Amino acid sequence: MTRNFDLAAALDEAKQAYIADNPASAAQHERARAALPGGNTRTVLYYDPFPLGFARGEGAGLWDLDGHRYTDFLGEFTAGVAGHSNAIIRRAVIAAMEDGINLGGHNTFEPRFAEAVRARFPAMEQMRFTNSGTEANLLAISTAIAVTGRKKILAFNGGYHGAVFTIGAPVNINAPFDWLVSGYNDAAAAVALIEAHASEIAAVILEPMLGGGGCIPAEPDFLHALREATARHGMMLIFDEVMTSRLAPGGLGAAHGITPDLMTLGKYVGGGMSFGAFGGRADLIGRFDPSQPGALPHAGTFNNNVLTMAAGLTTLSEVFTPDAALALNAMGERLRARLNAACQAAAVPMQFTGRGSMLAAHMMAGSIRTPADAAAGSVPARDLFFFDMLREGYWIARRGMMALSLPLTEADMDGFVAAVERFLAARGDLLR
Ligand SMILES: Cc1ncc(COP(=O)(O)O)c(C=O)c1O
Repeated sequence: MTRNFDLAAALDEAKQAYIADNPASAAQHERARAALPGGNTRTVLYYDPFPLGFARGEGAGLWDLDGHRYTDFLGEFTAGVAGHSNAIIRRAVIAAMEDGINLGGHNTFEPRFAEAVRARFPAMEQMRFTNSGTEANLLAISTAIAVTGRKKILAFNGGYHGAVFTIGAPVNINAPFDWLVSGYNDAAAAVALIEAHASEIAAVILEPMLGGGGCIPAEPDFLHALREATARHGMMLIFDEVMTSRLAPGGLGAAHGITPDLMTLGKYVGGGMSFGAFGGRADLIGRFDPSQPGALPHAGTFNNNVLTMAAGLTTLSEVFTPDAALALNAMGERLRARLNAACQAAAVPMQFTGRGSMLAAHMMAGSIRTPADAAAGSVPARDLFFFDMLREGYWIARRGMMALSLPLTEADMDGFVAAVERFLAARGDLLR
């Protein structure tokens, strides 16, 4: 009782300090509320009392409207793998713009970018580009429905596949597909559902590690069971690798030795520009070949926009190369091990889940295999962690998510670990 009261009081004090420190962000937020509901056009960015406004970014540094500098440990929710001012990407985008912005025809970048994606991700035999991960998943699911002639889509609690695909949320504005929902990492339940609806399920869609759902990795047995059962019943297995494709040179599915029928990409692959792609087996994606009678249509004014095509090609071929992916993910593994060791040494119920360069803080002890497990974590404690990290000069997601980017250094890792150690020492009594 006292401990909860103290935690609430500490959080309240942290919010008051935040309000006092950030008058310019507060003023911008207030003004934005007139034209944008809640001052917001991207729900994940909102938190109370008001979110920070950012003035600029450089390398792994971010500056808010009141002039504070943060080291960016969020990396634009995985989309910002190259940091905020990568010279190679900037040069590529500016050079592409010199030759015209919207050409209204094929440009020279799109086939080369597609070749680079194909060479990198073994599941992507052929692909189509979109403008976002949401759109990529919408098209992947629609493709599965079109090629199987079936209607049901099996997804997993805690999965997030885009703005109209929050799976298992109590209130949702999900796309009106005929959904079945099962538990993440529960192979037996999923296979039972697949067997029960063997002739009705068009696709099984999942992230090979839940990203927004708390950086909870899929267990290999779960993924292999889904691959086997979907193949047996002619269903499309869709890996949503919008976030996880950064976790290994060929994506996380490839790291598990599993090839899905369809795969979606987004985020960093577009070099920081709006991006999505759906692709997979050539016999399925080939159905979009417009030279063929009865081809599936797929339009999109900005699907091949010059900026994304140029930035994406450059990012995959020169910036986030397979070697860079391996190095960044190794850095993330070391960081997570150090953070978890610090939590254990301090005997504080806190831990960091994830894989490679994606991590999430959970304010609880014990194993986390599912979003239901993670729901036991203390939300006020997580909020306090967020505000304390801001005061320390680190930008992470309010919900505890972090994604490393290339400009971060070993010194940044040391600094963040030290900040977490100070949090554990100062706040441990409130959390135990
Ligand atoms: C796994 C996953 N799929 C799809 C999306 C949607 O991508 P976008 O925000 O580009 O629509 C996201 C975004 O966070 C995501 O994390």
